[in-house]
Amino acid sequence: MPKSQIHLKVFCVDVENMIPMLVFLILKPGTVRLWSVTFENPNPCALKGSLVEFRCSYNYTDGETVRKTAWYKGALKNGIWVRVALSDLPSYQNRSEYLGDLQHNCSLAIHDLQDNDTGHYYFSFDTDMYGRRSKRSVYLSVTGLSARVYPDSVRAGDTVSLECRKSCQLPSVVWFKDGRLVAQPHFQAQAKHSGNYLCVVEGHESVLSDPVALDVQYPPLNVSVEVSRPGSLTVDSSVNLTCSSAANPAADNYTWYRGTVSSSSSMFQVGSGQVLSLPSVASNTGLYLCQARNRLGESNSTEVLVTVDKTDINRLILLVGVGVKVVIVLLLTLVIVWAWRQRRKSAVGKQENDRDYENVTA
Ligand SMILES: *[C@@H]1O[C@H](CO)[C@@H](O)[C@H](O)[C@H]1NC(C)=O
Ligand SMILES: *[C@@H]1O[C@H](CO)[C@@H](O)[C@H](O)[C@H]1NC(C)=O
Ligand SMILES: *[C@@H]1O[C@H](CO)[C@@H](O)[C@H](O)[C@H]1NC(C)=O
Ligand SMILES: *[C@@H]1O[C@H](CO)[C@@H](O)[C@H](O)[C@H]1NC(C)=O
Ligand SMILES: *[C@@H]1O[C@H](CO)[C@@H](O)[C@H](O)[C@H]1NC(C)=O
Ligand SMILES: *[C@@H]1O[C@H](CO)[C@@H](O)[C@H](O)[C@H]1NC(C)=O
Ligand SMILES: *[C@@H]1O[C@H](CO)[C@@H](O)[C@H](O)[C@H]1NC(C)=O
Repeated sequence: MPKSQIHLKVFCVDVENMIPMLVFLILKPGTVRLWSVTFENPNPCALKGSLVEFRCSYNYTDGETVRKTAWYKGALKNGIWVRVALSDLPSYQNRSEYLGDLQHNCSLAIHDLQDNDTGHYYFSFDTDMYGRRSKRSVYLSVTGLSARVYPDSVRAGDTVSLECRKSCQLPSVVWFKDGRLVAQPHFQAQAKHSGNYLCVVEGHESVLSDPVALDVQYPPLNVSVEVSRPGSLTVDSSVNLTCSSAANPAADNYTWYRGTVSSSSSMFQVGSGQVLSLPSVASNTGLYLCQARNRLGESNSTEVLVTVDKTDINRLILLVGVGVKVVIVLLLTLVIVWAWRQRRKSAVGKQENDRDYENVTA
């Protein structure tokens, strides 16, 4: 064997987040030619729809001049691992952008990432003397965000966890509920927590997960009674009492209780249904409350006083008084008229007798 034989040696050194590839070509003993390609982050993870940048630098022996650079994607074709230039892949033509130059920068950007952009990417460059391609690759993972709520069915008081699923490690995730930032992804469920949640990655707020609904179920709260005719009620008013409450699921069973004003402690059931109709107030005065119920529980309203207005009672008394007076006056009038008539009758009789007497005497 001649002494000018070519010896090839390959070294691959893994430094944290950095893979320099050093290929020493020893052409002649004593003459060292060195070249390298360095990826700042060989395992980037990026969000679907976002932009990724492969920061990359390359080096070669002083004196060489770079003529051409290219990025390739690795693909299996008929069971063989091949590298296809991005420039030959139509789906990358508008989305890939070479940020590097013909000196030492070989950075690449890919816009509007798709799921199938996941894969191995290689860099190569040609100088006036050699063509070189990186042995190591950048492995890009493209992930979507998928928001989840645990558990599926939540009752007030349960501990809820929000989980933002993604297929690779990303910077911290933040949550929004109906457009507002959520402080904690774990909390004790309350009625007010119902709504639509979505997650985003900090710094990439333009890429949103699909929203996920949280439906917190709770027994009736804030039970209240509405009187159909607020203000003064007259004795013959009819009144509807309507029970309303906040509940999830909505209250579907209402019970009405009535008690006397004097002892509200003993209340008895007087009806059911969301509306209680009282045909006349006069015979139904008292304290009322409604109990709203759903399958998670029940709650009472505060007591509502249904009574005839004070001034109306006075008016009634006044009216009765006037009536009695009118009757008395009428009776008196009748008696007077009768008495007068009786007196007139007897007077006429006397006159007639007088006439007879006159006639007789005439
Ligand atoms: C390229 O190689 C030269 C000589 O080996 C070295 O001085 C320089 O720092 C290297 N540059 C880069 C960007 O690696
Ligand atoms: C790239 O962009 C040009 C002009 O915007 C358009 O005509 C072409 O169809 C695009 N190609 C692909 C593969 O999207
Ligand atoms: C990736 O998927 C898009 C559609 O989602 C398709 O147009 C494109 O051809 C695919 N690219 C590759 C390399 O399979
Ligand atoms: C109940 O009423 C309180 C006070 O008005 C209110 O803050 C709360 O949001 C209400 N609850 C529901 C579930 O509507
Ligand atoms: C009470 O409800 C009934 C049936 O819904 C209705 O016909 C009536 O007019 C209501 N009465 C009042 C005073 O609102
Ligand atoms: C409403 O609740 C009461 C008390 O639990 C029950 O007896 C009644 O059957 C319920 N009514 C309906 C319609 O569910
Ligand atoms: C609601 O009121 C009824 C009638 O006074 C009573 O029996 C029941 O215990 C009350 N329920 C609650 C939860 O206070």
